[in-house]
Amino acid sequence: MADQALQPFPNPVEQNISEKAVCTHVSKSVYAVLYQLAWGEKIDCTNAGFTLSFKRIAVAIAAWQASDEVNQFSSKRDKALAAEVKLEGPNVAFPLKGLTAQENLGHELFYGRAGCAVCHSNDPVIAVDDPNKAGLDPDELYTDAVFHNIGVPRNAKIPGPEGSAGLGARPLVILDPDDDPTRRLGQHKTPTLRNVDKRPSTSFVKAYTHNGWFKSLESLVHFYNTADVGGATAAAFGITRCDTTKTDWTEAEALAAKCWPEPEEQGTLAIGFVMGDLGLTLAEEAAVVAYLKTLTDTKTVKPPLLLQ
Ligand code: HEC
Repeated sequence: MADQALQPFPNPVEQNISEKAVCTHVSKSVYAVLYQLAWGEKIDCTNAGFTLSFKRIAVAIAAWQASDEVNQFSSKRDKALAAEVKLEGPNVAFPLKGLTAQENLGHELFYGRAGCAVCHSNDPVIAVDDPNKAGLDPDELYTDAVFHNIGVPRNAKIPGPEGSAGLGARPLVILDPDDDPTRRLGQHKTPTLRNVDKRPSTSFVKAYTHNGWFKSLESLVHFYNTADVGGATAAAFGITRCDTTKTDWTEAEALAAKCWPEPEEQGTLAIGFVMGDLGLTLAEEAAVVAYLKTLTDTKTVKPPLLLQ
C-alpha cells in the first residue's frame, strides 16, 4: 500500500504534484507535528531530504489505510452478525435477527441462486448446500480479487479512444504459450461491495462499474439477472439486445427501451455462464439490493482540521 501511495502525487495524469511540493505542503501543515511524532525528527524538504520525507509520507498514508478507522466493518450486516455470534456461538447462521426479512432474503440469494458470491466473496462459493450457512466471515471483503468480464456496455460519455480493455491492456508474463491475451479484454478485478451504497446524500447519484455506465444498484442487479438477452429471464421481462447501430446508449435509454447494449469488450464473458439469466423476480432483485445496502459502514471518517 505504501508503494501504491507513492504513485498518485507525482503522476502527471493523477495529482501531478512533485515529490518536493508534497513535502513542502506537509511541512507547512499540522502534519509537520505528526510527522515529527512518527519519525522522531523534523520533516526535511531540502534537496537532500525530500525524497526520504516523501517516502515516509507514503508509509504513513499506508499505515492509516490499514487502520480500523478506515476498515471499520461497522455496517448493519457486521453488527447484526456480531450480535448473532454472541447469541448462537458456533451455530450462527442466517437469517439474522438484526436484519429485515427482505435483507435476509437478499443474503440468501447473494450466496445462493443469484450467484453473486461466485465472485464477490473471499471464499468463492460455486455451489452451496445452504446459503444461510455461507457469508458468515466477519472479515468478508466481497471480492475474490480475480478479474472477470461482466459485459459492461460502452460509456460514450467518456472522451478519448473507445474501449476499456481492462486486464487485456496489461502486458502480462504469459506462462502458458497457448494463452490468448484477447481472452482478457474487458476483464476487471472484482470490486468489494462494502460501502457500495455509501454516498454523501440520498439524492447523490453514484456511477458503478469501471466506466460508470450503471447509475444505480437496482439497474445493475437487473442487468445481472437479465443480461443474457437470449436467456429465459430476459425473455420473461421482454428484454432484447439494443440496436447495435447506435453506439452511445445510456443506461436511462436502455432501461426505457427494455434492452441491453452489447458488451463493450468481448474477452471471456461471464454472461451466460454465471450471470445474466438468474430467474429472479423483481421482488428478489429488490432483496439483493436491500442486502447490498446493509454493507455501508455506519460512521464516516472525518478529515482532520488543518492549521492552514
Ligand atoms: C463473474 C463474476 C461476478 C459475478 C457472478 C458477480 N459479479 Fe459483481 N462485479 C464483478 C466484476 C468483475 C465487477 C466490476 C466490473 C467492471 O467494472 O467492469 C463487478 C461489479 C459489481 C458492482 C459495482 C461495484 C462498484 O463499485 O462499481 C456491484 C454493485 C456488483 N458487482 C454486485 C453484484 C451482485 C449483486 C451480483 C449477483 C447478482 C454480482 N455482482 C455477481 C464480478 C462479478
